[in-house]
Amino acid sequence: MSQPPCDQTAAWHQLQTLFNARGRDFDLREGFLKHPQRSVTLAVEAPMVFGDLSKHLWDDGIRDALIALAAERGVAERRDAMLRGEAINTTEHRTVRHAALRTPAGAPTDDASAALARTEAAAFMAYAEQIRAEGKITDVVNIGIGGSDLGPQMAVVALHPHVTPGIRFHFVANVDAHDLDTTLSGLNAASTLFLVSSKTFGTRETLVNAQLAMDWARAQGVADLPAHFVGVTANPEAARKHGMGTVFQFWDWVGGRYSMWSAIGLSIAIAIGKDGFQAMLDGAHAMDRHFAEAAPAQNLPMLLGLIDVWYRNFHGFGSRSIAPYHHGLRRLPAYLQQLEMESNGKWVDRDGHPMAVGTSPVLWGEPGTNGQHSYFQMLHQGTDRIPVEFIVVAHPDHPHVASHRTLLANALAQSRALMIGRSLEEVLADAGPAPSDEVIAVSKQRAFRGNRPSTTLLIERLDPKTLGALIALHEHRVFTSAAVWGINAFDQWGVELGKTLALDVEARMTDPGRSRADLDSSTASLMKRLESMA
Ligand code: F6P
Repeated sequence: MSQPPCDQTAAWHQLQTLFNARGRDFDLREGFLKHPQRSVTLAVEAPMVFGDLSKHLWDDGIRDALIALAAERGVAERRDAMLRGEAINTTEHRTVRHAALRTPAGAPTDDASAALARTEAAAFMAYAEQIRAEGKITDVVNIGIGGSDLGPQMAVVALHPHVTPGIRFHFVANVDAHDLDTTLSGLNAASTLFLVSSKTFGTRETLVNAQLAMDWARAQGVADLPAHFVGVTANPEAARKHGMGTVFQFWDWVGGRYSMWSAIGLSIAIAIGKDGFQAMLDGAHAMDRHFAEAAPAQNLPMLLGLIDVWYRNFHGFGSRSIAPYHHGLRRLPAYLQQLEMESNGKWVDRDGHPMAVGTSPVLWGEPGTNGQHSYFQMLHQGTDRIPVEFIVVAHPDHPHVASHRTLLANALAQSRALMIGRSLEEVLADAGPAPSDEVIAVSKQRAFRGNRPSTTLLIERLDPKTLGALIALHEHRVFTSAAVWGINAFDQWGVELGKTLALDVEARMTDPGRSRADLDSSTASLMKRLESMA
């Protein structure tokens, strides 16, 4: 059903009025002075994740107006339609069922897709257990790209302390063969298992790398190649054609960037075992229920998605920085980049009308405290305000209590520093009476304006169940902002043109005799220069 553009709704106009009246100049420091309880009223307890949303440029009234916007845009109805299995991915005529991958039998949203997913999950988890039990495999190499790489890699890295020792895990995505070569050097093909992960089993990078891996294994004397190659795909026929001895399936109703819960997560299942993988699914399901059932004012994914809209469209903030204060979450920013930017990087709405307002922000980040000594300068004193998302883990998996306290202190201090800043008066107070012009100029450069917003997501520990909840939280938050904007978060047509042109350029490079007259002169001359360098 077609909808008016989001900025033509009554709730949007109401928010614009609120923004002009008190949103634009909202001062967090005053907000806390006037309403110290905002750290309670603007905090949300979701399954395994506590969200402190009080250091945002909003108050209860703005939050309620954002909730009214969600209601007017039918966010809850769209969420329910997704969970019921309606074909909300309209450009591809597909249902969107990643939540079905973690739905236990008997849950309110249990259905035939969920049952199918559980059957396949039982099969790939049994296979994972077999690999773990046999002890023949020392190295698992996942070959895949995008959603067939980022989720499993992020999770295996994050859950390192839960990974059973004895098997090493590697992830090869880039068609740049330096990636594969570096990974394979030093591996023994006889004890290496390749997981060729590709929803389509047509992605050039993955097929090229899989072929190179097969050549390598053959050259190393592996006779039974299929035994070393497992395909994970929604296109089992193609996987078998490419020589995969074992194939695990998922379905077109699982988007690539939403697929780590399916057999695409086979590397995770081998790494942490069946029980660990199931715990991850359970954590995600708990967040699904929270998204489906919690009232909007207590619904963490919904509120995060609404804050994202508030910042992107009313404050005009173009990016968000992810600051996970846990070394294990170092691949999370890359994972979230695909999740959010491939989902919401859209310029037209579901009816094909150009968007009058901005959609996906740019996401970027590094694990804390590394970022502090790199780009945090810009976060604190740069000309742009960039909301930061701190992810804080209460209990580490190491015994170094004092160093963990230092880490936690840094996370809390950074969000506090971003907020309180340091005024020129405060800096000058240190300079003594009658400061010179030079001292004033230096002091100005040492002052922080503060009032820079942040979220703090606090979890007890980084275990499979909590990671599942944390990732599902982000999936649903992306869903929420997409629903408000009225865009389709589940297709990715924007990557297709580049793929087609790459095939065309490659064909021309393979056959230099082919005409290049129709190419732009930059591309043609770069091609020529590369040939002259060959
Ligand atoms: O090119 C983008 C994309 O289609 C992503 O959406 C997807 O995760 C990735 O490529 C890999 O696709 P596949 O799993 O089909 O190899």
